[in-house]
Amino acid sequence: MRTVIIYHSDSGHTKAVAEYLARQTGADLIRVTSTFPYTSLSRAVTGVRRALSGTPDPIEHREIDVAGYDCVVVGSPVWAGHPTPVINGAIDRLRNCQGKAAVAFVTCCLVSGGATGILSERLKARGLQVKGSMAVHGSEITDFTCLNRLVTIINRPWYGDIKVY
Ligand SMILES: Cc1cc2nc3c(=O)[nH]c(=O)nc-3n(C[C@H](O)[C@H](O)[C@H](O)COP(=O)(O)O)c2cc1C
Repeated sequence: MRTVIIYHSDSGHTKAVAEYLARQTGADLIRVTSTFPYTSLSRAVTGVRRALSGTPDPIEHREIDVAGYDCVVVGSPVWAGHPTPVINGAIDRLRNCQGKAAVAFVTCCLVSGGATGILSERLKARGLQVKGSMAVHGSEITDFTCLNRLVTIINRPWYGDIKVY
């Protein structure tokens, strides 16, 4: 199974989780960055406003073609209980994702709110089939027992819409 991990990370937590997952699963990594320059202040004001409204930021990648992958993992920091505008921009730029398996994860310092569910719904809206999701809290970023739960979700066999009893 070929897996790609697409993530946004400003201060490095989501990056650290994504890199651990890549080491454990052999996945390729794609880090997305905004062309919308945030300062600490504008991140807290404009960034949060854009996160709350689900607005996508313009990103460096013109498109993110996942045709060569079976599983698409998407990771985002939590901003005000939501995925970031940067990851929204990445989701908009996904190509050839219809019908593929997906896993959503977010990192947060304390309270993820509805961010995991919102991220999962955005992936479903692009035709991805979300086979699992998880929030990683600040204290868990180097907790490999916790992170291995995500590894298990990523490695879980997926049979599309077919229910296996
Ligand atoms: C603008 C902004 C809003 C945030 N909002 C939340 C929040 O609602 N809940 C939370 O637990 N952490 C919140 N955080 C903390 C980040 O989600 C957390 O530190 C995350 O792991 C950062 O990921 P990164 O290091 O990959 O950028 C916020 C951080 C920023 C910069």
